[in-house]
Amino acid sequence: MRILDHHPLAELTTFGLPARAAHFAACTSEDEVKEALEWHHHRGGPLHILGGGSNVLLTGDLPGLVLRMEVSGIREIGRTEKGPLVQVGAGVGWHAFVMEALDRNWYGLENLSLIPGSTGAGPMQNIGAYGVELEERFHALEAVEIATGETHRFDHSDCAFGYRESVFKRALKGRYVITSVTFQLLDVPELRLDYGAIRQALEEAGVHDPTPRAVSDAVIGIRRSKLPDPAVLGNAGSFFKNPVVDADRHAALVARFPDMPHYPAPGGIKLAAGWLIDQAGWKGHDRGTHGVHDRQALVLVHKGGAQGAEILQLAQDVQADVLDRFGVKLEREVNVLPAP
Ligand code: EPU
Repeated sequence: MRILDHHPLAELTTFGLPARAAHFAACTSEDEVKEALEWHHHRGGPLHILGGGSNVLLTGDLPGLVLRMEVSGIREIGRTEKGPLVQVGAGVGWHAFVMEALDRNWYGLENLSLIPGSTGAGPMQNIGAYGVELEERFHALEAVEIATGETHRFDHSDCAFGYRESVFKRALKGRYVITSVTFQLLDVPELRLDYGAIRQALEEAGVHDPTPRAVSDAVIGIRRSKLPDPAVLGNAGSFFKNPVVDADRHAALVARFPDMPHYPAPGGIKLAAGWLIDQAGWKGHDRGTHGVHDRQALVLVHKGGAQGAEILQLAQDVQADVLDRFGVKLEREVNVLPAP
């Protein structure tokens, strides 16, 4: 493992914004992770872990060490009566893993097709789409404690999963590097078609008796139609989380907007941030080098030549306007680095 200085990061993130790491290490094994952490302890300074770079907005150069997770490998390490336990290196691309699982007839991840990012980053924010969240197929993970260099195992109950949440974003933030994740997959498909758009896509494709592969294809089709391909247009998926509001706020909004989408959620009622931003007139908003995506208002896009700070400014303008119009505070889903 080599430590590189002044290393460019634009191509390692899906926003494609210009920024450099003062020091950079690509780690392809747990041992290399430990080696990089030793170097970091010796040198001091901040440490940032980079996976697929699909949930980060870089607003400037990063001091200290950026550790890029590149641990590979997908293997069946055991079985339960439901199906295989599959251990995946944290650096494996999430979608590549979902495709490999389908090829091997391991089911349960099809609704999570085409989510960008690495497998190791998945549990951090409990990635989810089309009615399924990662935690439903999660078995355990291994992570190296940054302070000690020791490997720890985390079972499901250790992870405190929630909507786009886990203990790794809260109590244990910045304390562990996830090196592998083990999933409990299924031999017998349990299709989840409850999300309206999936049924519609299957119908449009003329599929009456869907297989996991058909569901995956439908999800891929829906995502491609709404979400920009980062290879073409820089972005980090949903920039904000869908906000959860209390019954009073919800009632006040429904009185004004009877058609407003809303869903029951733990702790209140979840609103669609994309809908709020769209209603406020931001969809397709264009600032030349960057803007709001024209097919999904929850996605901010980098068209080329922008600085991260300008995209952060746009995000803040959207947040202020939504707060002003609807009294709803939007929380960022994307991590901003260096921390603002
Ligand atoms: N809507 C609008 N205008 C828009 C966008 C959305 O009116 O510009 C409305 C839609 O018509 C719909 C509602 O808002 O009634 C919700 O939209 P959608 O079903 O597209 O889902 P979302 O809430 O915008 C969430 C996730 C996505 C995930 C989809 C599908 C979050 C923050 N986002 O988006 O995840 O793919 O559901 O499950 O929870 C991501 O996290 O990066 C991501 C893309």
